[in-house]
Amino acid sequence: MDIVTANGARIPALGFGTFRIPGAEVLRVLPEALKTGFRHVDTAQAYGNEAEVGEVIERSGIARGDIFLTTKVWVDNFAYDDLIASVEQSLKKLRTDHVDLLLLHWPQSPVPLAEQIGALNAVVKAGKVRHIGVSNYNVALMTQATELSDAPIVTNQIEYHPYLDQTAVLAAARALGISVTAYYAMANGAVPKEPLLKDIAARHGKTAAQVVLRWLVQQPGVITLSKTATESRLAENFAIFDFVLSDDEMAAIHGLARPAGRIVNPAHLAPKWN
Ligand SMILES: NC(=O)c1ccc[n+]([C@@H]2O[C@H](COP(=O)([O-])OP(=O)(O)OC[C@H]3O[C@@H](n4cnc5c(N)ncnc54)[C@H](OP(=O)(O)O)[C@@H]3O)[C@@H](O)[C@H]2O)c1
Repeated sequence: MDIVTANGARIPALGFGTFRIPGAEVLRVLPEALKTGFRHVDTAQAYGNEAEVGEVIERSGIARGDIFLTTKVWVDNFAYDDLIASVEQSLKKLRTDHVDLLLLHWPQSPVPLAEQIGALNAVVKAGKVRHIGVSNYNVALMTQATELSDAPIVTNQIEYHPYLDQTAVLAAARALGISVTAYYAMANGAVPKEPLLKDIAARHGKTAAQVVLRWLVQQPGVITLSKTATESRLAENFAIFDFVLSDDEMAAIHGLARPAGRIVNPAHLAPKWN
């Protein structure tokens, strides 16, 4: 497993995403994901499955220190005291005394960013969170968060797949030492069907899904999440570190980007995107 280093954090380049996996499904599929080799698990207060994620990790027999665990604070919990109390609840559900990474899930909130960042720093100081980050932030917000925080911001988790050009956020993140964690890598089912990706995949004896996961982790400072509730796809999505895309193949995949490529854009949560 490749490791991405960012402002002092060491983050496995491939993580298992649990969005839209209900608790009962987590109990079935996450043990298999861990057996496959996934050691980075991404959940959120809003996913409603932290308790099952915690149960599976505890029962796995894998040392807590060998799993990189991320959760995200929901926007309703951004006021200082609420954020701290919500982290206590998350830790209880996750059956652990700390998470490796805590993210602010979306930027739109009546709570000032300084207050949110202040609370993140408080949970770091209390030893409940090793690293902090943001999600769905544009360049300006990412820069502001960095300026406001004592603890470094280590990632910005954003939608990223071949149809969405994230050059601006990537360049700014790299300048700030921040990694980018990609979500929606499969672009809601478009990736496995894309002819160009299937062609490249055939050359490597891989699938289009593997090519895109590889394309993401082959970019400096990029981590990707991969979600599947289909056990047979776990080994497929994990096997992305045994081949290399050429510069021409990387560029051709970048060429799929289009202006209307963004999929996730809730008006009440999203920033003005770059
Ligand atoms: N920060 C945020 O706001 C935010 C937003 C969205 C997601 N996320 C995080 O990012 C993670 C990944 O995003 P995502 O859940 O949309 O997942 P994704 O990795 O893009 O996968 C989406 C869908 O693709 C299918 N799929 C997966 N592997 C495949 C393969 N090899 N071949 C064909 N189809 C495949 C899966 O279907 P099956 O399950 O049926 O196999 C899944 O429903 C989430 O789980 C979550 O942890 C964060």
